Amino acid sequence: MKDDAMSTGELTMTATQAGAGAGGADDGPIATARGLVKVYGRGQTQVRALDEVDVDLGRGELTAIMGPSGSGKSTLMHCLAGLDKPTDGTVVVDGEVVSAMSERQLTRLRRTRIGFIFQAFNLVPTLTALENITLPLDIARRPVDRAYLDAVVEAVGLADRLTHKPSELSGGQQQRVACARALVSRPSVVFADEPTGNLDSTSSGEVLGFLRRSVDELGQSVVMVTHDPAAASWAHRVLFLADGRLVGEIVDPTQSAVLDALGELSARGAGRRRAAAADAGAKR
Ligand SMILES: Nc1ncnc2c1ncn2[C@@H]1O[C@H](COP(=O)(O)OP(=O)(O)O)[C@@H](O)[C@H]1O
Ligand SMILES: [Mg+2]
Repeated sequence: MKDDAMSTGELTMTATQAGAGAGGADDGPIATARGLVKVYGRGQTQVRALDEVDVDLGRGELTAIMGPSGSGKSTLMHCLAGLDKPTDGTVVVDGEVVSAMSERQLTRLRRTRIGFIFQAFNLVPTLTALENITLPLDIARRPVDRAYLDAVVEAVGLADRLTHKPSELSGGQQQRVACARALVSRPSVVFADEPTGNLDSTSSGEVLGFLRRSVDELGQSVVMVTHDPAAASWAHRVLFLADGRLVGEIVDPTQSAVLDALGELSARGAGRRRAAAADAGAKR
């Protein structure tokens, strides 16, 4: 289905998408959430960061997650990646029920099945680019697949920078090292939270181009949070969050379709805030 218009209301899901993934079927979604709820704090200060989210993330796809600040993007990503425990609901990643795992199982999952890319690169300053890239495998005492490492290094365009320390690399190069580090263990899925948030547009393009190629050429599945419509337009699919709920999606997004959808979302948000203010005024 190619649909440039944002589908309003609930996400559309096909019967084949819903419920697949269990048992490690390698054609269903790479990750699913059902009835996902995350509540922070209690009493007056309680925040419902995720409010009954149902979502399927495509295997071998680049999915972007967008939404206003505080809409629950990072929380959704952290719950999917086993970094945070949901209050309620089910998360399945590549056939494994993440939401039922013990801390020990979660540590193992994060080490072996999940790659992370952060906005702030998070490289170890005393290690070379190559040492940073292989660090997760070294920590897990897993062998480095030399051919795959070479393919990843080639794809990120870092072959002549491998002996450099992070301080000797540009921001874009550092983030490409972080991308290679996330990919070299061949995780089931890579989660990236604002991976281009600290980069200029040229470096952003390089990082996004690599993430997209990792999907198209290496078969990786990638989920990325972004504020940037240009970044989102690299994705196969964009999901929109507002107030902890999924409120729409665009398949095969263009930058202008994403901009339109964000405009519609913020208009709706402003309408809700006006209604709430009027309501509070009427009660005074
Ligand atoms: N550790 C936390 N403790 C309390 N509230 C939190 C915590 N993390 C996030 N929140 C709240 O949950 C909501 C969603 O946050 P977050 O997922 O970080 O949003 P986004 O990434 O879309 O900006 C916000 O209201 C935020 O203040
Ligand atoms: Mg965030």
